[in-house]
Amino acid sequence: MVKAMLRDSCAAPIGIYDSGVGGLSILQTLARRLPAEKFVYVADSGNAPYGDKSAAFIEHRALNIATFMRAQHIKALVLACNTVSAVAAASLRRAFQFPIVAMEPAIKPAVAHSQSGVVLVMGTTATIASRAVLDLCERFGKGSRILLQGCPGLVDLVEQGLIDAEVTCHLLEGYLRPPLLEGADTIVIGCTHFTFLVDAIKRIAGPGVSIVEPSEAIAMQLSRTLVQGPGFATAEWPATPVYFTYGPRSNLESFLANTVGSRCDVRALPASSAPLLEVNL
Ligand code: DGL
Repeated sequence: MVKAMLRDSCAAPIGIYDSGVGGLSILQTLARRLPAEKFVYVADSGNAPYGDKSAAFIEHRALNIATFMRAQHIKALVLACNTVSAVAAASLRRAFQFPIVAMEPAIKPAVAHSQSGVVLVMGTTATIASRAVLDLCERFGKGSRILLQGCPGLVDLVEQGLIDAEVTCHLLEGYLRPPLLEGADTIVIGCTHFTFLVDAIKRIAGPGVSIVEPSEAIAMQLSRTLVQGPGFATAEWPATPVYFTYGPRSNLESFLANTVGSRCDVRALPASSAPLLEVNL
């Protein structure tokens, strides 16, 4: 009986949640590293970008979507969104019993890696202004210069699939040139949407600049979490992730077709399972 329950909890899916398509960059790595696991992905694209919304709005959305995830019987939840992690991870951990893996900009490894001592952190306005990022700078930034760059507009462009578009490269140039002129030699990707812009960032920054991207670290953190709690799935062949979106299904389908390269199971996030709470912005 206990054995059967344990087997059931191991086989349960892992929830992955982002404001939109950015967390797919994390899902790609998780699915590669943990091929036996089932994943349920939720994109709150109808409400993206989160980065310029109030903390109260982000927290309410996060609570609603975590409630939906609980109804999917997930064994763990990955917040594949720096903004949700910075703003709402603590309340989610208080409200739910399943383990929650949250993200934070990789300032510590970036500082250790930088030769010039100047590190650029790219994130959404909400992440860059968060207490969580300030704490990271205070803990790990001593003796270095940490340049914090909010990048409004980029999440919208990635949501629209405009990854290599001129407008995106132009906006990126504007965000990257000043810190590069200040001597930044290491760039922290502090927003999962920006992982899809890494090639464009590399082109602008040039070969002498390193880019620190979080998905491998999250895969390791998720593995540690599974070891400590719900355990690993043992399926013989990989399960296909199920995707839910709060927004037009066709947007997520075409983004997936361009990135994953195959047809995917995309469903509408049922409004009844994730009721929108009234929030005054
Ligand atoms: N992918 C989210 C993050 O990592 C983007 C948040 C937004 O929608 O602005 O912060």
